[in-house]
Amino acid sequence: MELLKDKILNDGIVLNENVLKVDSFINHQMDPFLMKEIGKEFARIFREENITKILTIESSGIAPAIMAGLELEVPVIFARKRQSLTLTNDLFSAEVYSYTKQETSKITVSNKYIGKGDNVLIIDDFLANGQAAIGLAELVKKANANVSGIGILIEKSFQPGADTIRAKGYRLESLARILSLQDKNVQFVEEVIQK
Ligand code: G4P
Repeated sequence: MELLKDKILNDGIVLNENVLKVDSFINHQMDPFLMKEIGKEFARIFREENITKILTIESSGIAPAIMAGLELEVPVIFARKRQSLTLTNDLFSAEVYSYTKQETSKITVSNKYIGKGDNVLIIDDFLANGQAAIGLAELVKKANANVSGIGILIEKSFQPGADTIRAKGYRLESLARILSLQDKNVQFVEEVIQK
């Protein structure tokens, strides 16, 4: 998606060869116009999948997910990383290990909002090792629902997440795919444009 790639080139900051800082438009301050266009793009890509629910994880997945939900006209659910005071019973849960933070967290979603017959689109901001997306897919499976696809804003293709997810048979669509962050430069995977 050219708009997202331009934004990354103009406003992203390469912290080191593994980490891209996008605090000014995704992770802290958010760009509503960009989010709206991202929502439209996910809707265009996944429209034929008969999506009934979108599932993301707090916090940075929520903005693009809600915009995609608006376009596809389906509800959006975010998995929680922390326990909710009011949401205590009847939860599906999965363990997610973060290589970045070197800690395991439990993610949860209520069994009220995803169930048998749902076609779920999973959306998240970054794909690094893929553990968050795999945890979300596990929640969907525990709900006896179908993972119709995984939509990612920024895939770091040099990390193992994308291959891990594709090897599990999921349809993965990433709007920007980063080949390398070497030498403080962002290099994208070259896409073959089919006309
Ligand atoms: P994984 O799910 O793909 O295995 O990723 P990992 O555990 O390594 O990532 C942990 C957190 O770091 C996630 O956010 C993820 O989005 C974020 N992250 C991974 N790589 C990058 C990067 O290059 N740049 C930035 N800015 N973030 C990255 P989180 O802690 O869940 O945060 P949030 O969603 O609450 O913002």
